[in-house]
Amino acid sequence: MTPSYNIASIPGDGIGPEVVSAAIQVVEKLAKTLGTFQIEFTHIPWGTAYYKETGRYVSEDALDTLRKFDAGIFGAVGAPDVPDHISLWGLLLAIRGPLQLYANVRPVRTFPGTKCPLNTATEGIDWMLVRENSEGEYAGQGGRSHIGQKWEAATEVAIFTRVGIERIMRFAFETARSRPRKLLTVVTKSNSMRNGMVLWDEIATAVAKDYPDVTWDKMLVDAMTVRMVAKPQSIDTIVGTNLHMDILSDLAAALAGSIGVAPSSNLDPTRKNPSLFEPVHGSAFDITGKGIANPVATFWSAAEMLKWIGEKDAAGKLMTCVENVCASGVLTPDLGGTSNTQGVVDAVCAEIEQIK
Ligand code: NAI
Ligand code: MG
Repeated sequence: MTPSYNIASIPGDGIGPEVVSAAIQVVEKLAKTLGTFQIEFTHIPWGTAYYKETGRYVSEDALDTLRKFDAGIFGAVGAPDVPDHISLWGLLLAIRGPLQLYANVRPVRTFPGTKCPLNTATEGIDWMLVRENSEGEYAGQGGRSHIGQKWEAATEVAIFTRVGIERIMRFAFETARSRPRKLLTVVTKSNSMRNGMVLWDEIATAVAKDYPDVTWDKMLVDAMTVRMVAKPQSIDTIVGTNLHMDILSDLAAALAGSIGVAPSSNLDPTRKNPSLFEPVHGSAFDITGKGIANPVATFWSAAEMLKWIGEKDAAGKLMTCVENVCASGVLTPDLGGTSNTQGVVDAVCAEIEQIK
């Protein structure tokens, strides 16, 4: 019997629906063409329109709803007329933390058709970024008091736990070990941040003892930005906190060539909960509705999803098709091309036909 998967589709806002629809088209085409697995996408309407109607970004039973699926694919959240902290906490952060999707994995690679802007990396970039996805400044601790007074106070408390750091550190060492160079850089800021960041360093040193085959070093986050630009070839896998890696992963995507091709996986490595796959970019109001959003980041996220649920072979085939299409010059305007989103979808589907 061919395996069958149920996937939650949460397109969200802005270009989210455009890129998620594009990804569903190519994955359905792939499943139909290969005939080795079945996949069904169930639409979930969470996002800003849902919020305006119900007062909530997700349904009250959101976590139980998601737990019924094998995985989820997500587009983006954020609208011009809703403050970003409301939309982000209402949707994405309402899922990542409670479902303990604690490993956010962001492969960054110079893609056929994209150009790495660094003259220090003429052969392009190939990095794996691992972001702690459940604590730090995103734990939700902090508050505001003395509202409206001169001494109004606001705190954002960074939470770091031994459990949280150790599990992401092990995940990162495993990830580094699985890659040819077996090289890991642990990013902190343990000079000025003398508590949480020092705990990160201590746990890195302890966990490293279990991975003698992985070469590792540590960097302060500010120095890391310099290294990413000046010595990109000295880097392979990077691990860091929720906030630091949020910033470094945008930098990494830009250095590799474009945010339009950058994918991410929100993983529960224990596999108790379904993992969520999404492009790194946001809802891109400036191009919403124009039909020109680059779907490649979402294709790649969908391929990562296929790999995670057990269809590694199909995932590899999908990526080969996407890379062939990009290499042939069928590109959206963000990469200097003249194709629209559907043009890229059609070209990838035609490429999938060829692998029959
Ligand atoms: P953004 O990623 O939406 O856009 C930044 C720039 O990149 C824009 O010029 C946009 O046109 C371009 N871009 C992004 N994705 C593209 C694609 N697939 N193809 C072609 N060009 C693309 O970031 P921005 O403008 O800071 O945020 C817009 C909204 O998205 C905000 O509400 C923000 O909060 C939200 N956001 C949501 C995220 C998520 O849901 N994961 C992540 C980042 C931002
Ligand atoms: Mg970000």
